[in-house]
Amino acid sequence: AMGKNQLLSPDRVINVAHRGASGHAPEHTLLAYDMGKKMKADYIELDLQMTKDGHLIAMHDETLDRTTNGLGRVKDHTLAEIKRLDAGSWFNKKYPEKANPAYVGLKVPTLEEILSHFGRSANYYIETKAPEVYPGMEEKLIRSLKKHKLLGKGSKRGQVIIQSFSPDSLKKVHQLDTQVPLVQLGNFPMDKKTIAELKTYAIGVGPNYKNIDQTYVQKVRQAGFLLHPYTVNEKEEMHRLIKWGVTGMFTNFPDRLYEVLKKK
Ligand code: G3P
Ligand code: CA
Repeated sequence: AMGKNQLLSPDRVINVAHRGASGHAPEHTLLAYDMGKKMKADYIELDLQMTKDGHLIAMHDETLDRTTNGLGRVKDHTLAEIKRLDAGSWFNKKYPEKANPAYVGLKVPTLEEILSHFGRSANYYIETKAPEVYPGMEEKLIRSLKKHKLLGKGSKRGQVIIQSFSPDSLKKVHQLDTQVPLVQLGNFPMDKKTIAELKTYAIGVGPNYKNIDQTYVQKVRQAGFLLHPYTVNEKEEMHRLIKWGVTGMFTNFPDRLYEVLKKK
């Protein structure tokens, strides 16, 4: 039996700070993750890419263009090159009403830096992005998590969830460590065959909230999966999804979801 206080309980709704509190601060910066934690998110969400010299960094896109003042592919740049970039100023330009001088010059964090910064005081919801572009990414991720005692002996169940749109990447992680909970992103049909296939490695699914309805939510829950739709930013949507029976959601505004959950 699993109590409501357990992170992976199907009887609670977890609050996942998508790319950190990315509605308030530049996504995938330590500052945005810190803010997510302060807003009482249960998890900080991070997307992984890999540098030319094999370091895992937190970034959503495969290119540097949108969220830094650099250009080109992550895989064609060394960590040292990426560390010279400004990962905050774009936010001030794009959202002048939310601009803050403290965001200027923020750096792209490595997975190692994030895990060192928060240690076991945070829960991590980590996505392997473009795994076909970055061979070895799963091995590096598992190694880092073990090094920081976030996986393996003595670790807390649910402290880390690994997610991906790629079934192959998740299956690889499952082979490396059968204990780590996995969530399959994407809109998978809930037919018998797909359910059976997903059950071999995943404990949950993460669809785009725009593509689901109440019937789908019921099917997913009946199949025994956790259900964490992305990316839900409006309180009305949050209320609706909770009423339907989701077990958590990704949001750029963990403060809003916290308020919604408090009133439940
Ligand atoms: O990981 C959940 C959600 O973040 C998936 O979409 O593109 O924001 O990584 P994306
Ligand atoms: Ca993601």
